[in-house]
Amino acid sequence: MDGNGRWAKKHGRPRIFGHKAGADRIDEIVRVCPDIGVKYLSLYAFSTENWNRPGKEVNFLVKLFAEKIKNKTAGMKKEGVRILFLGERTAFPKTLQNLMAHCESETASCRKVNVMLCLNYGSRDEIVRATRKISEDVLAGKLKPSQITEDLFSRYLDTRELPPPDLIIRTSGELRLSNFLLFQAAYAELHFTQTLWPDFSVPEFTSALAAFKERKRRFGEI
Ligand code: FPP
Repeated sequence: MDGNGRWAKKHGRPRIFGHKAGADRIDEIVRVCPDIGVKYLSLYAFSTENWNRPGKEVNFLVKLFAEKIKNKTAGMKKEGVRILFLGERTAFPKTLQNLMAHCESETASCRKVNVMLCLNYGSRDEIVRATRKISEDVLAGKLKPSQITEDLFSRYLDTRELPPPDLIIRTSGELRLSNFLLFQAAYAELHFTQTLWPDFSVPEFTSALAAFKERKRRFGEI
């Protein structure tokens, strides 16, 4: 969800104003998913690298996550939205961790759409954490090295039972993956748009999906 800062600048406002607008944009995009056949939506909200931003901005974002999760859990449940969090959550204050756990358990049986919020998520970090867990299981005798396959490895990632992404949309004109789902995105289609995240609309979302449907996916075959 890139471009919040530039969006705020364009409107002559501080960066946090862009993050608020970016957070507000999520509702509309999530709400339209069941109508357009999207069962899984991952939103990259805070990367492992985002801690390097000025403390004031980081603190604002952490507070914003807590406020939104607290205020939106009941509504999401009512609309059949299952929320999952990807990333290393122990880095966050305990209050936020508790809100995340509560939101996940409250919405666990919702099936209309699965929304993955990536908070303190970094693909390299996720792969290292998975490798550490696999090594522990090997050392404990629960697993043999010969049993480590792509499928088993993927079950140690934060995404566990989730399908790999079909389409990755990157807003704001940046042309890179920035540590997002690197293992899972091996065969994802990519869509780049100049639109800043707070301006990313439902019509633009549906037209990106329509363009995706026209693509021929060969997964390495001919
Ligand atoms: C990237 O744009 C955006 C972020 C690092 C924060 C995104 C967070 C939200 C939209 C709030 C989400 C809320 C919940 C509950 C998950 P940027 O700041 O890098 O923008 P710039 O590239 O224009 O500077």
